[in-house]
Amino acid sequence: MVPIAVLASGHGTNLQALVDAARDYRVACVISDRRGAGALARAEADGIPATFVDPAAFPDRASFDTEIDRLINAHGARFVVLAGFMRILGSAFVHTWQGKMVNVHPSLLPKYRGLDTHRRALAAGDCEHGASVHFVTDELDGGPVILQATVPLRAGDDVASVAARVQAQEHRVYPFVVQLLAQQRVTLSPDGVLLDGRRIDAPLRVDAATDLACVAA
Ligand code: GAR
Repeated sequence: MVPIAVLASGHGTNLQALVDAARDYRVACVISDRRGAGALARAEADGIPATFVDPAAFPDRASFDTEIDRLINAHGARFVVLAGFMRILGSAFVHTWQGKMVNVHPSLLPKYRGLDTHRRALAAGDCEHGASVHFVTDELDGGPVILQATVPLRAGDDVASVAARVQAQEHRVYPFVVQLLAQQRVTLSPDGVLLDGRRIDAPLRVDAATDLACVAA
């Protein structure tokens, strides 16, 4: 099983989904920049090494990143999976892990990079919203997108209802994509994202009704 490192700042519901669905990968360590992160407690409950790395203990971003890199390697992880990690990683770290690091972002990129995505989608009157799983590059929320899960936006929705709908899809698709990475079926090339060695012209697109087994059959 391919060891992966999960970096998380928040509740850790995506971490939990990754742990629960693990087949060809295993979560070798969880690292957080927030002391009380739910993700750390979830990892400990599952017997996964969990480390809080205090950003305030480091003089700059590069030295913080170096410590994260050291921990990842100490646990033998081959991929870095950002699951609600809310700290920007420096370009040296990003280059080291390019093609081996993915993120889940709560919007249909390139729409709504950054924060507050659900409120912005509602304010724009969008009918469709969702989540994107993408390779991490230097450009914030700008790396090549592997897969997008769409959800409808409905009259009467608020940020909480939309967040719940989007997260339900994140929990389904993120482990699916990490599985494809671990199997080396999804890779990053200079031409873009490859699935089984063939470039995908656009992100794979699914909704709640899609049978994921069909997506990369
Ligand atoms: C997820 O919904 C993820 O999309 C978002 O943080 C949440 C973490 O939830 N990530 C970002 O906004 C990254 N830009 P979780 O801690 O319950 O997995």
